[in-house]
Amino acid sequence: MKTKALAPLGLLIFTFFSPVFAQPSPWLDEEYLEQRTSQLTPTRSAAPSQWRVIWTKEPSTRATVSWTTGKKGSEHRLMYGVRSSDDPKLTESIKPQKNGAYSSARGEYFHHARLSGLSPSTTYDFQIESDGHQSPLMHFTTAPADDRTFRVLFGGDSRTGIEVRAQVNLLIADLSEKDNQLIGFAHGGDYIVSGRSWSQWSTWLSQHELTVANSGKVLPIIPTRGNHDGGPLYDEIFDTPGGKDKNYFFTRLSPDVALVTLNTEISAGGEQRFWLGQTLASLRSQVRWLLAEYHRPAWPAVKSPGAAKKFWVPLFEKFNLDLVVESDGHVIKRTVPIRNEKKDPTGIVYVGEGGLGVPQRKPKSDRWYLQQPGMTGAGHHVMRVEFSKTKMDYEVILLDGKQGDNYEFSVR
Ligand SMILES: [Fe+2]
Repeated sequence: MKTKALAPLGLLIFTFFSPVFAQPSPWLDEEYLEQRTSQLTPTRSAAPSQWRVIWTKEPSTRATVSWTTGKKGSEHRLMYGVRSSDDPKLTESIKPQKNGAYSSARGEYFHHARLSGLSPSTTYDFQIESDGHQSPLMHFTTAPADDRTFRVLFGGDSRTGIEVRAQVNLLIADLSEKDNQLIGFAHGGDYIVSGRSWSQWSTWLSQHELTVANSGKVLPIIPTRGNHDGGPLYDEIFDTPGGKDKNYFFTRLSPDVALVTLNTEISAGGEQRFWLGQTLASLRSQVRWLLAEYHRPAWPAVKSPGAAKKFWVPLFEKFNLDLVVESDGHVIKRTVPIRNEKKDPTGIVYVGEGGLGVPQRKPKSDRWYLQQPGMTGAGHHVMRVEFSKTKMDYEVILLDGKQGDNYEFSVR
């Protein structure tokens, strides 16, 4: 009993004097980074690894918990339960509805356990078990079904800069740990260089473990397909978000917030444009904050505009979107509000361009839509958006935790 009583005290002393707390961004320290990356779960055994929680359509009641095993295995299950105290009770258990071999892999398998009927704004403890081997105990929180304030991270382009990617992931974990209102992470695409390379995806997936906070908190990921993410592995990893050959969908983050994820790697016109028009028409009358995200920019800060400009921008303007998130350029940007190819206070603001690891470029800051009150910059970063009743706060958080940009949006 004595030992038991002393242990938390020892932990407390360690916590107060731990160098982790003396250094506000420990991931900037090479030794710390090396230590953390050396602790990633090996992928070649029967034990679960590369865990992720995926959100697509209904994050207040559904989530997919996915993982990898190095062998096909025979007994896979996800145990979960509502967190009621510090004593986890994993009262429920399901078998993954979908299992299979990753394309071009070395014998690794994916497993997708699709949870439904969850309660909104509820924290679920979960643990994965494959052939008797268990993952650490983790937890995530479902999206709200009421009008409470919450936050979501956005970011794209983690395809190169493997070491920086690990650092950004640790930044994400830190932001997540400190913030109960931070509930999800929308990735804007270009996870890896070659979408058909299992070894590249495998590194990305293993490093994704670094986004899990020390407490075990997992931020569910909302995936977007980028131009480097071609091939079948994307659907195998993220459980075919939005449907096969589509990968576009909308996420009802709350009754008042919707995020429409689009796919710039298939036709921006035709069926996708038709769906977008119908979806925005329906959502605009229901939500306060209406956002879209996709990979190749309509209003680029580096390259030329993608097909999004011709096919989607007129719809964004027609339905008065509140914010559009783009990736692909490898810079930081926020445009002026744009309508009819002009700066217009009633227009749409486009942010992003990607900095989850990829080396940064020099933005073409002389473009008219990037002038004040817009901005351009460069630096590895994530974006954080807070949704509340009266305003939407946007900010860029740099690798050292400092703010790189911020902007406040009023309700339209
Ligand atoms: Fe890209």
